[in-house]
Amino acid sequence: MSDDMLRAPAEVKYAEELDWLESIDDGPKPFTWRLSPRMIRLFILGSERSDGLDRQIPQKWFGDRSFVERAIVTLASDRGLLLIGDPGTGKSWLAELLSAAICRNSTLVVQGTAGTTEDHIKYSWNVSMVIAKGQSRESMIPSPIMTAMEGGVIGRFEELTRSTSDVQDALISILSEKYVSIPELDDDNIVFAQPGFSIIATANSRDRGVNDLSSALKRRFNFVRIPVVTNKKSEAEIVRFRTEELLRRHQIELDLPPTLLDILLQSFADLRSAAASATSDDEKLESALSTAEQIGVLEDAILHSHFFGDRVLRAQTLAGSLVGSLARRSPEDLAILNKYWHGVVEPRSKKGGGPWQEFLEGGREAIATLS
Ligand SMILES: Nc1ncnc2c1ncn2[C@@H]1O[C@H](COP(=O)(O)OP(=O)(O)OP(=O)(O)O)[C@@H](O)[C@H]1O
Ligand SMILES: [Mg+2]
Repeated sequence: MSDDMLRAPAEVKYAEELDWLESIDDGPKPFTWRLSPRMIRLFILGSERSDGLDRQIPQKWFGDRSFVERAIVTLASDRGLLLIGDPGTGKSWLAELLSAAICRNSTLVVQGTAGTTEDHIKYSWNVSMVIAKGQSRESMIPSPIMTAMEGGVIGRFEELTRSTSDVQDALISILSEKYVSIPELDDDNIVFAQPGFSIIATANSRDRGVNDLSSALKRRFNFVRIPVVTNKKSEAEIVRFRTEELLRRHQIELDLPPTLLDILLQSFADLRSAAASATSDDEKLESALSTAEQIGVLEDAILHSHFFGDRVLRAQTLAGSLVGSLARRSPEDLAILNKYWHGVVEPRSKKGGGPWQEFLEGGREAIATLS
């Protein structure tokens, strides 16, 4: 089934693994959860030898175990879960994994935008059916959140802080009363949430602040802050995990020298520390330099080498992709990258030579082309 989708949701992609975990799971499960909290943690963070399982469960989300535990415990309580952090820190991915493991459904998602209305989180009407047959439960279109309530499963709300305050207010009543009333109908006009219903929301800390959430809504969520991964070892693992998946998906055979992965990680680490010591926004790249962006750079370089290169990833190509992805504002971002190439890459290439030398040349060319 997952072969004919451009991107399968986690419950489809890992269906076989989830079935297996369910079959060996004898731990206590809250509500109608498909897996116990321990098994959910294991599914997300991967197994270790000490777990004594017959097969190895790969790690899917990389980050502190305490975040995952707090997230699971929150969902077993009657509060919603709000994952907050910089762009590209894996919030949506973690929300998807949690929903897949808890209820095998991660697709009941509402995307928060400035245009999201109350209808998107409650219900709307099929106009032609209303004209033909009048307003009834049949002519009502439940939102993903309402569907989640009726099914006793997890509903997701992406980018919560982008939605307007009346939408956020509608969520308050859903989270506290756990029902939605449908005043247009005379009977059968309340939809009650079934046990197991909860909401996982995500919010990007670079967008309009979380402080803009009303305090009433804040009280109904437990916050879990996801930091940018700065540990090089975990970051290398995430990048490798995603890259292998990409190569498989495109059926690409490509040589990926480990030294290039090091260069990528090192340059992101350098640029991050430069951003941390910058005194104004103009001295800071617009990019959050998250792991997701690192993956994006590598993906770009891999596809470039695959389609236009000679099936080996070269440092030059990598440099081109890095500059291309990070130079969003001209001239600010280009100036920052130029400074980095002069001040850091050049001395490194003098000392290390080899791929750093190629990286230096590739970056210089790309910066010159964009300037
Ligand atoms: N800690 C992580 N573990 C595993 N994968 C990660 C991690 N961080 C980022 N990624 C990868 O980066 C990609 C982007 O992450 P995701 O979309 O979940 O970020 P996000 O925090 O929701 O960002 P945004 O705020 O922009 O929506 C994911 O597909 C995932 O593969
Ligand atoms: Mg997201």
